[in-house]
Amino acid sequence: MTVLVLDFGSQVTQLIARRVREAGVYCEIVPYNKAEEALAKKPRAIILSGGPASVTESDTPRAPQQVFEMGVPVLGICYGEMTMSAQLGGRVEAGHSREFGRADIHVERPSRLLEGLAESGSEPVWMSHGDKIVAIPEGFSVVATSESSPFAVIADEARRFYGVQFHPEVAHTPRGATILSNFVRGIAGIEPEWNMHAFRAAMVEKIRKQVGSAKVICGLSGGVDSSVAAVLIHEAIGDQLTCIFVDTGLMRAGEADEVVTLFRDHYNIPLIHAEAADLFLGRLKGVSDPEQKRKIIGAAFIDVFDKESQKVGGAEFLAQGTLYPDVIESISATGGPSVTIKSHHNVGGLPAYMKMKLVEPLRELFKDEVRALGRELGLPPAFVGRHPFPGPGLAIRIPGEITEEKLEILRKADVIYLDEIRKAGLYDNIWQAFAVLLPVRTVGVMGDGRTYDHVCALRAVTSSDGMTADYYPFEHSFLGRVSTRIVNEVRGINRVVYDVTSKPPGTIEWE
Ligand code: XMP
Repeated sequence: MTVLVLDFGSQVTQLIARRVREAGVYCEIVPYNKAEEALAKKPRAIILSGGPASVTESDTPRAPQQVFEMGVPVLGICYGEMTMSAQLGGRVEAGHSREFGRADIHVERPSRLLEGLAESGSEPVWMSHGDKIVAIPEGFSVVATSESSPFAVIADEARRFYGVQFHPEVAHTPRGATILSNFVRGIAGIEPEWNMHAFRAAMVEKIRKQVGSAKVICGLSGGVDSSVAAVLIHEAIGDQLTCIFVDTGLMRAGEADEVVTLFRDHYNIPLIHAEAADLFLGRLKGVSDPEQKRKIIGAAFIDVFDKESQKVGGAEFLAQGTLYPDVIESISATGGPSVTIKSHHNVGGLPAYMKMKLVEPLRELFKDEVRALGRELGLPPAFVGRHPFPGPGLAIRIPGEITEEKLEILRKADVIYLDEIRKAGLYDNIWQAFAVLLPVRTVGVMGDGRTYDHVCALRAVTSSDGMTADYYPFEHSFLGRVSTRIVNEVRGINRVVYDVTSKPPGTIEWE
């Protein structure tokens, strides 16, 4: 463990870890109240995250007092600054109004935390606080102020304790990454040794140790995560790994061939290609309820995977492309029981009766790090940069009953849409873009004739993790071009609409 982030429940805690890792330093997030084990590993620096609570109320979270007694640098962000001030003898009061949004801080005295910033004395930041400090603890001094907060940055340089009342981890604080880098590298003196080259070598060793001479199976979905996991594991244990690709018949145009060619022919990884379109489409016949569809697909997937994996014989391990956000989400400080919005199905989500041990080499990585690892492993850049694609595939992009005919229509529209996005150079600016085939028909006119065909909805969003998303603001001329092409080139669609709903309140997929 090098840097420990104690989570007080901020929506953006994950970004702290990302920024620290971008500075080349490894870092883990742990809920503030489950920190014992992590503290015993002797982190070399500690960051206290923001959070929604107020320190002026009793029973709100506090950092373990030990944090301030270990002799390591501590950085408190927003709530973290408040609780640090309160715990070290300062005074914090409830503010009259919560302050959010852009502000400028004015640097009052030099500090190692702000090195390389604010040459002009003023620096834009993203403020967020409800409580306000009225007296800073002994040993601290004011480093920067803002119009509404006299303690925007405080520091006890001798003990290396720092507090900021804004979020350095968000993109709205343009030079926030420098602040975090100053803290972990300059102040804590940690060398930048975390990179994908080092990770690859260390993980190959770890996989070999974990697996020994046993066999491993890995479900390939065609997505980046399972692909990167498979290539990494293959590098570690060679042909002890067999991949299983289940062709559900719900993939996009050409996708199944692409995956099979890449893995079997390019990487020479043993691959079972299970053709199961008839089974999936058969079981989905007549079903239009979204949850029922998801459950049928999940169950069919398990049946096929189970059957195919028996062909491998004696596999002890199952490889999964689980990522760090999935790991921390399940242990989040604030993550109480949540409602099921959709029953997500993932390639790796197999039932306990399969009794296999798990190999999860990406458990410590964020999505962008997985992409970097994919590039490091030599996966084609176009493949590594692909938009996410959901396990249930096109089934959740056809509201209502699924038929082969509708799948064909949707595939054609989707190809045109993505082709235009690539041509316009927008693919990498977008988190996900896809077409949806609506179960309504509308009247149109083509040439001299009347048409009565499906409506196609286009969706494109930006997002950093799929948890929240904004619709992508295409230019009208772009949308017009795509619409014209789809209506002209795809039989069965005579109208195109663009979805301008963000998440929340919408979700990214339509079902
Ligand atoms: P929603 O629609 O819930 O989607 O806003 C968020 C992200 O998750 C993807 N998604 C899935 N991925 N299995 C997956 O592997 C699923 O069942 C599933 N459902 C949605 C979706 O494409 C988006 O990236």
